[in-house]
Amino acid sequence: MNFKGKDIISIRDFSKTEINFILKYAKKMIPYAKGEKTTDILHGKVLSSLFFEPSTRTRLSFESAMNRLNGKIIGFADPTATSQKKGESLADTIRMAEAYSDIIVMRHHLEGAARLAAEFSNVPVINAGDGAGRHPTQCFLDLFTILLEKKKIDGQNVILLGDLKYGRTVHSLAYALALYGAELTFVSPKNLQMPKEIVSECKELGANIQSTSKLDKAIRNADVLYVTRIQKERFPDAEEYNQVVGTYQINNELLNNVNENLIIMHPLPRVTEISPEVDQTDFAVYFKQAFNGVPIRMALLSLLTGETL
Ligand code: CP
Repeated sequence: MNFKGKDIISIRDFSKTEINFILKYAKKMIPYAKGEKTTDILHGKVLSSLFFEPSTRTRLSFESAMNRLNGKIIGFADPTATSQKKGESLADTIRMAEAYSDIIVMRHHLEGAARLAAEFSNVPVINAGDGAGRHPTQCFLDLFTILLEKKKIDGQNVILLGDLKYGRTVHSLAYALALYGAELTFVSPKNLQMPKEIVSECKELGANIQSTSKLDKAIRNADVLYVTRIQKERFPDAEEYNQVVGTYQINNELLNNVNENLIIMHPLPRVTEISPEVDQTDFAVYFKQAFNGVPIRMALLSLLTGETL
């Protein structure tokens, strides 16, 4: 399978066979991601890291991935320190990054920005999150985490919880899990439900779907609980946010009656939706999940540049 030169804009651009290939290749990257083995397959390659929106995990794990492969990184995490401040267009910024590097990773607040960037670039563009749109590398690492923790993705009973309206990670993950025949339960406040078109798409792919606002019953049979933050920055109206913030909080009391093999995932950052006491339980895999971003992004950087182990 050849991914050299390909853009990564949406998980929808990948078949299940391609996803499985990438996850298998990412497994090979784990000892390199941990620093137990070394490689210089990306020696001489440069990554442009363009973050127009805040990030901790995505940006740092891409940087870690590039460093672990012995490549170099240029870029910015503060767009106000770039010529965008002087009115430069996104297209021109991308033309510059293309001229200076071999691959571009970009996070932007506007949905569709990554697809636009890919049109102006002859080097691969990786979407690191575009507004409320897509976050495909997060989706790869979420699937990878389920695979590593549960030994298979097919047929898992998965709850997606929280902000299902604006949450780009759950939009991508719902679609991908549908490819694997998951049993999906969407749990959210009424005004933050999963968009209807994503529900229809998942059903067409064969997923069994339920929607509810009540977590306590749904959680009893779940294999995976995927928690999301209610994202204040995505709400057009502060009053709408105030009505739903704090609706769900995962704590040890809630976890008394769950499947003992349940795993709790979260793309992070979290604020109040998972109590810190849960971090000490065997259910919590969200910090391992965040680490899994490194081997996944190493695999993607390697495959897109065509420099493989
Ligand atoms: N999961 C995720 O995208 O985290 P950051 O916003 O910190 O990159």
